[in-house]
Amino acid sequence: RLIYQSPTGIWLENIAVRPCNKLLLTSIFTPTLYMLDAAATNSTLDEVYTIPNSTSLTGIAEYQPDVFAVVSSTVDTTTTHSVAGSTTIWGIDLTTRTPRVKKVAVLTNSTLINGLSSVPGHPDLVLAADSDLGGVYQIDMRTGTAPLVIQDSEMASALPPPAIGMNGLRVQGGALFFTNTQQQIFARVPISVQNGVVRRVGAVEVLGRTAGEESYDDFAMDRQGRAWLAAPPGEVQLIYPGRNGTFAQKSVAGDASGSSGVFKAPTSAAFGRGDRENERILYVTTEG
Ligand SMILES: *[C@@H]1O[C@H](CO)[C@@H](O)[C@H](O)[C@H]1NC(C)=O
Ligand SMILES: *[C@@H]1O[C@H](CO)[C@@H](O)[C@H](O)[C@H]1NC(C)=O
Ligand SMILES: *[C@@H]1O[C@H](CO)[C@@H](O)[C@H](O)[C@H]1NC(C)=O
Ligand SMILES: *[C@@H]1O[C@H](CO)[C@@H](O)[C@H](O)[C@H]1NC(C)=O
Repeated sequence: RLIYQSPTGIWLENIAVRPCNKLLLTSIFTPTLYMLDAAATNSTLDEVYTIPNSTSLTGIAEYQPDVFAVVSSTVDTTTTHSVAGSTTIWGIDLTTRTPRVKKVAVLTNSTLINGLSSVPGHPDLVLAADSDLGGVYQIDMRTGTAPLVIQDSEMASALPPPAIGMNGLRVQGGALFFTNTQQQIFARVPISVQNGVVRRVGAVEVLGRTAGEESYDDFAMDRQGRAWLAAPPGEVQLIYPGRNGTFAQKSVAGDASGSSGVFKAPTSAAFGRGDRENERILYVTTEG
């Protein structure tokens, strides 16, 4: 069901859902964080906050109740990646009437931070996928430290920009799940947090693949350990563990080539919150 369509065709990049079930939306073409009430009769994009001195927002993750980490940067229109030194992590606290915003860290070595994830059980930590370095930063939202803690060939792009490697990421059940857009994979790597530092503790395992023009963008995990992936140009795909321990994948909505026109390039997916009814709704953003 179409909930909202922008009159300007704004490219929506990512979604986080607030405890009150309102959607927070980012776009790579504006530094404004938007909110949308999907339950309203006619939903609108309402401005929450505009990040100064930037042109683009990508990942967003809730690291404490109703407190979100957001990435901003200035996009270099030639490379479509970020200007070196512009990538900044912000904390946006929505527990008060007026958002409380703090600048947490500048990732000076990064030219494209894509997805963000919280780390269950570690309310100060946020992980950030670096699409160009092929790795994961750990940001301490309290102290602002931001070391690169994991780097792997399966997280990198085999082609130069504008190709992008690691895109979305989620931590669940002692594993880091991620997509790599250029390599067309969905994968997981076991991790543990030792003395406050996230470390990989095993090999990367590929759980799903796309073929042809189809690739993976961001995704949502459900409580049963299934992944619901935005797979542009036209599909939402489910990757789920089978009884025999291997993973299977199937199409949930749209189609691999996008010819059905259900989605105009899906970019991210997130489940509703608040009650069981809401939790059964998957929200999907698109590029156009
Ligand atoms: C929603 O939009 C439709 C079409 O523009 C309009 O007729 C209707 O009055 C609106 N409803 C509300 C509650 O604003
Ligand atoms: C704005 O961002 C650029 C990098 O994109 C940086 O060089 C500059 O110092 C920033 N200006 C301010 C006022 O933060
Ligand atoms: C940036 O990368 C260089 C080269 O790998 C490294 O020496 C330096 O510590 C990095 N800086 C930060 C802030 O991560
Ligand atoms: C394992 O289960 C999956 C999903 O049910 C199925 O697609 C696959 O063929 C099975 N593999 C083997 C080796 O039985």
